[in-house]
Amino acid sequence: MCGIIGLIGNNEEDVVDQIILGLEKLEYRGYDSSGIAVLDKDCKIKRLRAVGKLHSLKAKLAVDRISGSIGIGHNRWATHGTPTEKNAHPIISKNVAVVHNGIVENYKELKFDLKKDGCIFDSDTDTEVIASLLQRGINNGASPREAFRKMLQTIEGSYAIAVMFDLLPDTIMIAKQRSPLVIGIGANHCVGSDITSIASFCSEVVYLEDGENAEITKDGVLFFNRNFNQIEPSRHRISIEVIDSGKGKYQHYMQKEIMEQPSALRRTMLYNKIDKSILNDISRILILACGTSYHAGMVAKYWFEKFLKIPTTVEIASEYRYRSPVIEPNTLVIAITQSGETIDTIEAVEYVKIHSNSKVLAISNVKNSAISRIADFVFYTEAGAEIGVASTKAFTAQLAILASIAFMHYDFLIQELQSFPTYCEEVLNLYGAMNDLAHKLCDAKSAIYIGRGSLYPIALEGALKLKEISYIHAEGFAAGEMKHGPIALIDDNVPVICLCPDNELFDKTHSNVQVALARGKNVIVFTDFGKSEILSDEITKIILPKIHVEFVPILYVIPLQMLAYSIALLRNTDVDKPRNLAKSVTVE
Ligand code: F6R
Repeated sequence: MCGIIGLIGNNEEDVVDQIILGLEKLEYRGYDSSGIAVLDKDCKIKRLRAVGKLHSLKAKLAVDRISGSIGIGHNRWATHGTPTEKNAHPIISKNVAVVHNGIVENYKELKFDLKKDGCIFDSDTDTEVIASLLQRGINNGASPREAFRKMLQTIEGSYAIAVMFDLLPDTIMIAKQRSPLVIGIGANHCVGSDITSIASFCSEVVYLEDGENAEITKDGVLFFNRNFNQIEPSRHRISIEVIDSGKGKYQHYMQKEIMEQPSALRRTMLYNKIDKSILNDISRILILACGTSYHAGMVAKYWFEKFLKIPTTVEIASEYRYRSPVIEPNTLVIAITQSGETIDTIEAVEYVKIHSNSKVLAISNVKNSAISRIADFVFYTEAGAEIGVASTKAFTAQLAILASIAFMHYDFLIQELQSFPTYCEEVLNLYGAMNDLAHKLCDAKSAIYIGRGSLYPIALEGALKLKEISYIHAEGFAAGEMKHGPIALIDDNVPVICLCPDNELFDKTHSNVQVALARGKNVIVFTDFGKSEILSDEITKIILPKIHVEFVPILYVIPLQMLAYSIALLRNTDVDKPRNLAKSVTVE
């Protein structure tokens, strides 16, 4: 959440366009406001900020151009202070401009103290205490470096910070604590919240560790540990795959990412051969994840208990460390996170590491992400960059890895899994049908998704997709739970979307379908050829290919993604950047 970038031009060239390019890549991290600050040729800080998505800042720049050969930029996802221009970053205090991703947890005490010293605050942000601390240091005669180091020793919380001083016109100072930050070295020396934002300006990157800080100039980068001793961290060459290839022929990233699922699944299975030894001496599995990744974990529980016979618990990572969980010996912990940066998941894993000897396996879509650096081993989903805020291809790729683990002793299932992407291709032809259905559902105020067994998490995921991009209220339920309360919600205006494949639970789910139909006329059933003919004519039927029952959850989520997308299009929402959300959730 929040994206930051900083860049120093080679040969004094203007960096504004490059910073804007970087901010475009970081927009998925927040789009409540954006801003840019540069040092102009007279070493004066010049700043432009705009509320809303990046195009507002670009429009302002077109009429009120600023330029400079060193600059910082920011996309905001508001935490402290409403999304207004005065709260947009960069935050300035006379000689200093700051961009920040994270939360200064002791900002209230610091603000109180700074105000007593006569500091005046212009914004409601926690970040302003960083700028004020730096300015107070300068006013008291400290050098920028001394002021920066003192500030780092004073603030608590999470941060990725980039700071420019007008008194030190060739340097950007940066620091990291629990928020992602990558430094780029090459044609330009630069810093960004992720590698894609800076990949076109540099050839090598350094991933800062927590507590580390650095000084970037056009001649090089100096790295320091938390005690400010100089260090030489390892550098990584940038690979082609991190460069986002754009939307191509598609209107939205989400649409492109839905369509990419067959190839994402093929690549994921090709590059992840599961070594059976990962389960040696394991008697329990604990899965930690949030949101869509949590739903992948819920599906895995069904598979793991059925095929591995290992008791499995799935926990919402944001809840996990705030109770007193018992971690039994010989537990394998699986952390699932597309971004690899979700703070709730990272902190839950840190909790496990402190309180047990459990090994942690991470499943992530982003190479060298924070989770990969704290896990004992990592499987990467090879889905490629997922830019749409609503997760699609990363989810099915996570399921492919989890299925490969679950079926490790069943060669015939592993073989079937290899041919599964062909069925996904077939399902992707349902766009027309989903579009027709979307016309029927797009004015609903509320929708219900139901499923049983491993289709229950898919009902939750279908509902999540719909609510996050169309803003229609939607809930997923275990089909059998409806009669224990939620059934009261059903009337003719509430569509009930039932996931009812031809499996051993068909008859039970079919009864739930009938019960829904007796109370509302808008019942839609996703099923396969086997049983579709026995469903009442009043039901809208979506027929999916008949596949092995174990793979049904992976297949059935795809039309639900397409349905949510089609409904969002009709409702004219910003599909790739839905309101209030950000893709990488780095605050608790
Ligand atoms: C929903 C969605 C979110 C994420 C959640 C966890 O479409 O994308 O619910 O799944 O924020 O993110 P990761 O997987 O990056 O940890």
